[in-house]
Amino acid sequence: MNNNRLPMLLGLGVLAWVGIVILLAFSGRLIIHRFGPMPEQPVQFNHSLHVNKLNLECLYCHQYAEQSIHATLPPTQVCRDCHEGADIQRPEAQKLAELLETVDEIPWQRVYKVKDHVYFTHRVHTTVAKLRCQECHGPIEDMTVAIRSAGGSSDRSFLEMGWCITCHKRRDGPRECINCHK
Ligand code: HEC
Ligand code: HEC
Ligand code: HEC
Ligand code: HEC
Ligand code: HEC
Repeated sequence: MNNNRLPMLLGLGVLAWVGIVILLAFSGRLIIHRFGPMPEQPVQFNHSLHVNKLNLECLYCHQYAEQSIHATLPPTQVCRDCHEGADIQRPEAQKLAELLETVDEIPWQRVYKVKDHVYFTHRVHTTVAKLRCQECHGPIEDMTVAIRSAGGSSDRSFLEMGWCITCHKRRDGPRECINCHK
């Protein structure tokens, strides 16, 4: 190869990398702009693996999603049932094993949260309105980390009042203030 070309090729390579980095940062910013930063979890829980590969139902872990206001996160005993004593050669599973020895309950950080002045209940949405979890939570069974996702909705007001109202208009949900602000 002609030695004079080397600096030019190197320069092009650097330019390409800078481009890729800018692009990644920009798309990351777009996601963060729309859904807010995702919380850091004590251990990375992989929905895709537990739901798609191990065939566990959502309700196996989110027991009250059809009965109550809160779907609830699984008590750590649910994880212990399978993981205690199991030697799974995956870095996050090893991290989990260490964590299970030091804490009683894993301090999960909430991904979805409406403000305290808002009344939302899972039971009515999952059983009376018969909505699938994915309509509000996106394709969580394909996620290796749970992120906020508007599901089928491309509504920019995701998780804000306009998001609830848009669906309530479309599907005949209640629209009086008192329903959501008690
Ligand atoms: C029904 C049994 C079962 C339950 C319940 C279960 N797990 Fe697992 N988990 C597994 C198995 C099996 C694997 C390894 C699968 C493989 O390697 O293909 C695994 C893998 C993992 C991994 C490694 C994932 C990765 O991407 O490397 C983590 C972390 C984990 N589980 C966390 C949890 C937590 C936290 C809970 C409780 C909320 C839980 N698991 C509940 C069976 C279970
Ligand atoms: C083996 C247990 C397990 C199964 C099965 C499971 N999840 Fe989860 N899920 C968890 C754990 C643990 C967390 C908390 C960690 C996290 O947010 O990543 C969580 C978090 C979530 C969150 C975010 C909660 C928040 O913090 O606001 C949603 C939404 C969710 N799961 C929906 C689902 C749906 C829908 C299914 C079925 C397709 C499902 N999960 C199946 C264990 C499970
Ligand atoms: C109509 C939209 C909607 C549907 C359908 C829905 N969720 Fe939710 N989910 C939400 C909202 C909004 C929050 C935040 C609630 C809050 O802050 O109190 C939430 C929060 C959660 C949480 C966090 C912990 C908790 O108890 O609030 C989990 C876990 C969860 N949902 C799982 C599920 C599962 C599993 C299904 C299906 C069986 C489901 N959701 C169906 C809108 C929905
Ligand atoms: C994807 C559609 C959809 C979304 C998104 C949605 N809802 Fe609903 N909601 C419904 C439907 C449909 C009903 C009516 C169910 C029935 O009674 O037939 C309903 C009913 C309700 C009720 C009445 C509960 C009861 O006890 O009768 C409340 C409160 C409510 N929604 C709050 C909210 C809030 C707050 C949000 C946003 C954080 C929200 N909903 C987002 C579809 C939705
Ligand atoms: C279907 C549910 C729903 C109905 C009906 C509803 N709201 Fe809301 N409202 C919400 C949600 C969800 C938020 C929280 C938005 C957020 O967290 O950013 C909110 C927020 C608000 C806020 C505070 C804005 C903020 O930044 O927190 C006010 C004020 C408000 N609503 C007034 C009303 C009035 C007045 C009505 C009746 C005309 C009404 N809402 C009907 C769901 C509803």
